[in-house]
Amino acid sequence: MRSPIARLAGIGAAAPATVVTNADLEKTLATSDQWIVERTGIRERRVLQPNESQSDLFVAASRDALAQAGIPFQAIDTIICGTCTPDRRLPAAACDIQAKLGGGTAAAFDVVAACPGWLYTLTVAEGLIASGNSKKILALGGDRVWSIVDREDRNTAVLFGDGAGGAVVVPATDERGILATALGADGTLADLLNIPAGGSNEPPSEQNIRDRRIYVQMAGREVFKVAVRRMAQACHQALGKAGIRADDIDLLVPHQANLRIINATAGEAGVPLDKVMVNVDRYGNTSAGSIPLALVQADGEGRLRPGMVVLLVSFGAGFTWGAVVIRW
Ligand code: ACO
Repeated sequence: MRSPIARLAGIGAAAPATVVTNADLEKTLATSDQWIVERTGIRERRVLQPNESQSDLFVAASRDALAQAGIPFQAIDTIICGTCTPDRRLPAAACDIQAKLGGGTAAAFDVVAACPGWLYTLTVAEGLIASGNSKKILALGGDRVWSIVDREDRNTAVLFGDGAGGAVVVPATDERGILATALGADGTLADLLNIPAGGSNEPPSEQNIRDRRIYVQMAGREVFKVAVRRMAQACHQALGKAGIRADDIDLLVPHQANLRIINATAGEAGVPLDKVMVNVDRYGNTSAGSIPLALVQADGEGRLRPGMVVLLVSFGAGFTWGAVVIRW
């Protein structure tokens, strides 16, 4: 087993105050609390109000992560944000977050990898530490998914919410830290989960807004099948690289998209359900925010202790996927 290069010195996460329950959605959509709970495990999600920003969540999460790490924001040399819903089209979300945290000159950029955005970000952070280019990184992940779903489409509207989080990543000094990461993508399947308009091919127009092409379109059943297969593969790949057996995992923190996907992934990865962190019932799918939110909740519940082996795994639009093994 190789020694870790980078470790997570502190973590933080934040979700909006506004709660939208399944009962709230029943009022506007042909859906039911029973259908949503049975098919997804989701009971409620948190959503930002129009006068709130995704960067506000990142600022709150960053302050918590910095406090836990005992590192002032001024010491951060790099800010990386895994998101596909920046506050505005330009600049990168990381730049707006930097400004709200107090400015400075830290390098700031985004990683666009949908739901596994934070796992991609952690992997980039580890590489920047390995090269010596960065020493103290704010590695963030989160999405305002509610802003890109069609609230008139019951196939997608019930699944998502807003949330953000991240970690302060620094050079490892002992056996604690990132042991292995495994990332992958298959762009040939992109059409199964995408937003057709709003990019440079089809800039926003009255017509594509009317046709609802600025919102997420998803073939749910197909996504489900590929998600389970790719997440299981990513788990095995990352564990293989780390030289760790499934039996040695103390906590699995999977992407919180759907309870059935979580259970199937845990089964394929060989991790018993009592070692799996689940909070999809409270937040729905917050895309890149989902793993930090679950990790911070696990920490708050006393489920993370130094020396534990933690496995993170995610899957999303692209398709993209990834797994990260951490000795906590
Ligand atoms: N309320 C009531 N009925 C609904 C709803 C709803 N919200 N949504 C769909 N239905 C209906 C469908 O129209 C369909 O009706 P029909 O049989 O008359 O055609 C029926 O329910 C069954 O639909 P399916 O799509 O087969 O339902 P399934 O059991 O596959 O569940 C779901 C759908 C929850 C979307 C599931 O496929 C899923 O979770 N897929 C993964 C999607 C996902 O999580 N994507 C996020 C990004 S990727 C990731 O994060 C992993």
